[in-house]
Amino acid sequence: MKKNFEKTDENVVDIYDISYEGAGVGRIGGKIVFVPKTLKNEQVKVSILKNTSSFLIGKVTEILQASGERKTPKCPYFDECGGCDFQHCEYKTEKQMKIDILKNQLRKVGFEGEVGFVESDKRFGYRNKIKLEIRDGKVGYFKAKSREFLAVESCVIATPLINDCIKIIQKFLQSGRLVGAKAVYVKQVEEAVAVCFLFDKTREKVLKNMPNFDVFGEFLVYFAFGEVLESNSTKIVKVYGDSKLTLDLGGKEVEIEVSAFNQINDFIAGKLYDYVTDFCKGKRVVNGYSGQGFLTYKIAQNAKFVYGIEYQNSAHKSAEMLANSFKDYKIQNFCGRVEDCLPEILTKDRIDVLVLDPPREGCARQVLDAVTLGKIEQVIYTSCNFSTLVRDLQVLKNSYKIESVKIFDMFPCCCVMETVVVLKK
Ligand SMILES: C[S@@+](CC[C@H](N)C(=O)[O-])C[C@H]1O[C@@H](n2cnc3c(N)ncnc32)[C@H](O)[C@@H]1O
Repeated sequence: MKKNFEKTDENVVDIYDISYEGAGVGRIGGKIVFVPKTLKNEQVKVSILKNTSSFLIGKVTEILQASGERKTPKCPYFDECGGCDFQHCEYKTEKQMKIDILKNQLRKVGFEGEVGFVESDKRFGYRNKIKLEIRDGKVGYFKAKSREFLAVESCVIATPLINDCIKIIQKFLQSGRLVGAKAVYVKQVEEAVAVCFLFDKTREKVLKNMPNFDVFGEFLVYFAFGEVLESNSTKIVKVYGDSKLTLDLGGKEVEIEVSAFNQINDFIAGKLYDYVTDFCKGKRVVNGYSGQGFLTYKIAQNAKFVYGIEYQNSAHKSAEMLANSFKDYKIQNFCGRVEDCLPEILTKDRIDVLVLDPPREGCARQVLDAVTLGKIEQVIYTSCNFSTLVRDLQVLKNSYKIESVKIFDMFPCCCVMETVVVLKK
């Protein structure tokens, strides 16, 4: 007879594998149990947090036999926080887990080749943008796999300057000078930092009664009214600070939009852009989901022509300013959906290389159909979500062969992978 699991912390589990979400995998009475923050070959005591018909989710209460690769997490919130998955091991173990997870996923599309890995220069202090929830005058993240608030005073994967800023935000909120903000984004660009408080749309009246922001010193402060920062319908107002967020590109100062997407690990973003750009030399290129146009600008330095496609207005505006600063480069930016703009470009021009860097949701079916029906020689697909990547590769593999796969470790400590797949017609 199968042994039943216990809700107590008395379940002893041998971890024999790692799931695609980075949790250890074991069994209790024949049923699979996922135990986050454990390693292969460990024996742990587990209490059960969730029981579904096909699996359990457990939490470690005691490590009975630790892996030799186990390490003390740097972050005091690691056990509870939903932000990081891999601080309990060495970086080389994290790297191998990520490669194994991706290889397993890519088997679903018949890929059995090697998976390259570009390491981040920093495992901690790399994140140039964070979003903190606000509850009762405190900032924090959500606990793992829940919407339960966890107050934090620091974040070890965020840059030191962002951590300085967290302290100021905390002080500012506790003084009771700001009411109604539900979250705050902190974004660093070079040495400048923008703090953006997020409010519901109905809260615009807070603009009539502004608190004193002097405590923020050199930092810039914005208010955003909407659901999320990066949406066309969110209204952004700068409420404090004279300077602008700017980036030095090729000796020119380029303005950055606070509400537009940016890659969160500067070192890896640079490596990734160099890698993608190499495929585009002398070619006619479409850069789909082009954000503020940094990659478009890099590609254009050596390509014959580049089209950028981006649907968020503020990101498109940034990309246009960038293109206008470098008029020698042959760039045309479209403000619209890739689903609509790509087919239009393909009917008018012969494209050699298509670069795709969609959001977590992946590409719409219309995009994939336009690609498979077209004559583009090479597709470079960059993804931050291997589930949608695999889904999209299932379609693309009808007309394309996977040439290479590389993880660019944009998110150390987290089970999120920035993957570049190179496909050839
Ligand atoms: C992962 S980001 C990539 C940005 C850019 N490649 C970079 O490196 O900064 C995805 C971008 O696609 C945009 N986007 C999302 N869905 C889109 C769509 N259907 N059509 C065009 N752009 C879209 C988002 O606004 C975001 O800027």
